[in-house]
Amino acid sequence: MIKKLIGTIALSLTCAVSVAAEGGYPLEKAPVRINDMASLQNGAKLFVNYCLGCHSAKSLRYNRLTDIGLTEEQIKRNLLFTGEGVGDLMEIAMRPEDAKKWFGAAPPDLSVIARAKSHNLGPTGVDYVYTFLRTFYRDNSRPLGWDNLVFPSVGMPHPLWALQGPRSMERNTVALVDQADGTQQWQRTITRFDPQGFKDVKTEVLQGYTGSASDKVTFTPVDAKAAAQFDNQVADLANFLGWMAEPVQLERKRLGVWVLLFLFLFFGVAWRLNAVYWKDVK
Ligand code: HEC
Repeated sequence: MIKKLIGTIALSLTCAVSVAAEGGYPLEKAPVRINDMASLQNGAKLFVNYCLGCHSAKSLRYNRLTDIGLTEEQIKRNLLFTGEGVGDLMEIAMRPEDAKKWFGAAPPDLSVIARAKSHNLGPTGVDYVYTFLRTFYRDNSRPLGWDNLVFPSVGMPHPLWALQGPRSMERNTVALVDQADGTQQWQRTITRFDPQGFKDVKTEVLQGYTGSASDKVTFTPVDAKAAAQFDNQVADLANFLGWMAEPVQLERKRLGVWVLLFLFLFFGVAWRLNAVYWKDVK
């Protein structure tokens, strides 16, 4: 019985880890800012300005943003543009059929995307969004001029490109490649996309290579300072999407501290009481 239980637990652990590793490009850890109200507010502003045009967040009403420290007045003044009321849901005017025509895929509702993309024990959905938004690169051969490392051939153009500024990307892969004569050979491929999205590929055969396969990506921003500020903004945006997927988490964490404190005190009382009860029995 116990053995079986341990087996099941071990199995589910390995599954969780392999799922996380399967995603191709490794996800980076997003800075944890869930208790930082300024970050959440900035994330809300970015979301409304840059994402809500295409994506809805139908499980959220604007006035829920009072939970992250905004007043209804601030919400009305800074986040409502098209005559919505503060009690309205975060919906969009774009029709899914049109979106499909324009982008090849309908933009999903983002209410719970951070929960949908999280893996037990692996990277969180916040890490997913953080890495996804930071791995767009210009590729002229794509219909919208953009591609993405986390979501190859994505139907979404880089929404924040103006904040990030142009950058080039170089991908250096070493892999065993099948040859025409049926043998395999180690090859290094260097794929470079310049800031305008023009591609340049160089391949070399690695004679006598004894290492293993590798895949390394380097981004070189034209404006390093803008790119660093952009990373910081994206951390706030990913943080906000994490909160949106589970708005009660702030309350739960606040409550959690009190619950732990209560349990701790209760344990002390029970301990003493136990001693008193058994004192005369022995
Ligand atoms: C111009 C329209 C447009 C804008 C603006 C836009 N998106 Fe998207 N987004 C899309 C489309 C279309 C898809 C579906 C892509 C696909 O399935 O190929 C998508 C997909 C996504 C996904 C899902 C990725 C996945 O793995 O399933 C996330 C997350 C996302 N967008 C986040 C954002 C965020 C955050 C913003 C704001 C910074 C944003 N989007 C702005 C059109 C847009």
